[in-house]
Amino acid sequence: MTTFYKSGKMSMLNFGRIGEKFMKTEVKRIALLTGGGDCSGLNAVIRAIVKSAILKHGLEVIGFKGGYHGLYTDDYIKMDLSTVSGIFHQGGTILKMSNKDNLFHYKTTNEDGKVVYKDVSDVAVENLKKHKIDVLIIIGGDGTLTSARDFARKGVNVIGIPKTIDNDVPATEITFGYRTALDHIMLSLDALHTTAFSHDRVMILEVMGRNAGWLALEGGVAGSADVILIPEIPYDVNSVAKTIFDRYNRGSRFTIICVSEGAKPVDGSVTVKSIDKDSPDSVKLGGFGNFLAKQLEKIVKPVTGQEIRVTNLGYIQRGGVTNQYDRVLGTKYGAYAVDMIWRQEFGRMVIIRNDRMDSVRIEEVVGSGKVGQTSTGGARIVNPHGDLVNSARDIGITFGE
Ligand code: F6P
Repeated sequence: MTTFYKSGKMSMLNFGRIGEKFMKTEVKRIALLTGGGDCSGLNAVIRAIVKSAILKHGLEVIGFKGGYHGLYTDDYIKMDLSTVSGIFHQGGTILKMSNKDNLFHYKTTNEDGKVVYKDVSDVAVENLKKHKIDVLIIIGGDGTLTSARDFARKGVNVIGIPKTIDNDVPATEITFGYRTALDHIMLSLDALHTTAFSHDRVMILEVMGRNAGWLALEGGVAGSADVILIPEIPYDVNSVAKTIFDRYNRGSRFTIICVSEGAKPVDGSVTVKSIDKDSPDSVKLGGFGNFLAKQLEKIVKPVTGQEIRVTNLGYIQRGGVTNQYDRVLGTKYGAYAVDMIWRQEFGRMVIIRNDRMDSVRIEEVVGSGKVGQTSTGGARIVNPHGDLVNSARDIGITFGE
């Protein structure tokens, strides 16, 4: 790492924001990578980093492809203004990503063909040295940022940017990708309303969010769901059935139910789709909508004759055209990360606190699912007595309590 101390170049200092410290590490080249699962707004972040680094700070930028895998195999592209032209609105990431390549515990095979795990992080550090990279910006969730912390411990100048559609990162108020996912949920619920009405059906929409209910809660309220089931409020199936019957008796012969993939009955547990040992988030949730439908069919069909149908919105929530909010939010996250280089805020992650950009030490938020990607441990979850839940209750939305 080329780190030497001087008071910074005048040309650079002139562009700094008022109150910023002078740059001690002379930074000429930076690299970035995207890791974990994708979400809308990643390209907006990439664009903001590249534009700000080049236009404001005169830096050179390279992007490693496929997350840490590219850092390990030295698969990279040089990034200039043309690389990020036309990508602002696009979902996904032009750099591609992976949620499997933990370079500190890297899956490989030995001569006998047996799977062995090795620490190959030194190879990554050598690649950074080879390209004379002064700062590495890492955009990702808990697993990705845990490795970012470990690279910081190895002396790499790292800056983290959290990403998730689940909006459950504890240190920050909102993450990009969340609002675009909400749009998908709202529009899907709008569409389900007309078909539910036409057939007098009960419609269940299952949405993502892991162990946090934000997507189902905000999406469900925006999409006018009648019942919302979230992990933070375990439900009683008889209470859900009662809502369906009450509506039916009032003349509303359809019911719309929006559920989190992580919702669970009072006397049961989450519905696990699969276990992926190679992922930092090994427990994959999914299928709760079908589980609920089976439970409800037994109670509802004999009484009202209503059919129950399930839609799992799945990965649509992570893609498509990035909405206005996430384009702006991604721009703020990306540009602020580049400003952090200027203030020497290494080993830190960009956050939003009290609606202002800020940063915290990555050490403080990652590991044990604290960023919110891997488990409930420390994640920002829904308060069952919070304002939005209460407003929803006030207008007759039920949570299956
Ligand atoms: O954390 C984002 C998220 O989309 C969750 O809402 C979902 O449970 C999970 O990722 C799916 O992960 P994968 O891409 O590994 O299937």
